[in-house]
Amino acid sequence: MFNRERQRHVIWRYIRKFKSLYAYFQSKLANILHAKELARRLKEDGVQITANALHPGSVLTDVWQHYCFVNVFASTLGRFVLKNVQQGASTTCYMALHPKVKGVSGEYFMDNNISKANSQAKDTELAKKLWDFSINLIH
Ligand SMILES: NC(=O)c1ccc[n+]([C@@H]2O[C@H](COP(=O)([O-])OP(=O)(O)OC[C@H]3O[C@@H](n4cnc5c(N)ncnc54)[C@H](OP(=O)(O)O)[C@@H]3O)[C@@H](O)[C@H]2O)c1
Repeated sequence: MFNRERQRHVIWRYIRKFKSLYAYFQSKLANILHAKELARRLKEDGVQITANALHPGSVLTDVWQHYCFVNVFASTLGRFVLKNVQQGASTTCYMALHPKVKGVSGEYFMDNNISKANSQAKDTELAKKLWDFSINLIH
């Protein structure tokens, strides 16, 4: 019988095998950290620009075609359970246009609401490290 930690370990190892999927998850974490650090810097400089990150939900788009086994699901059962493109655009439009979001910065949104990102995504030190690392890459 697997305990929870062992189970998580096995699942995580399994995920790591799908390196491209793992890279995809990392890129999403980087997006959130980047928005957070950008928002912090804009606030610090007194700039009236907001930066937020969002998860659109699971949306039936072409993105799944790159992940073979996910694509099989997306192109069959997916259309019954995934959001369509219009629904998937909702949170983006909400964040860009809704007066309630005016002045809100450094947050993570999902389903037209501020949501809780995982603990790594809230790590301000990691966000700063990613920022500095990115700056070094382009200089
Ligand atoms: N679909 C979901 O469930 C879901 C969930 C969470 C987050 N997201 C994120 O939402 C974003 C949009 O994804 P989507 O679902 O709308 O996927 P999509 O339908 O595959 O659209 C991706 C778009 O990005 C463009 N693109 C891809 N690589 C590019 C490159 N190297 N340079 C310039 N443009 C490039 C594509 O252009 P072409 O059409 O010309 O290739 C396409 O217009 C992605 O960041 C994705 O990770 C999606």
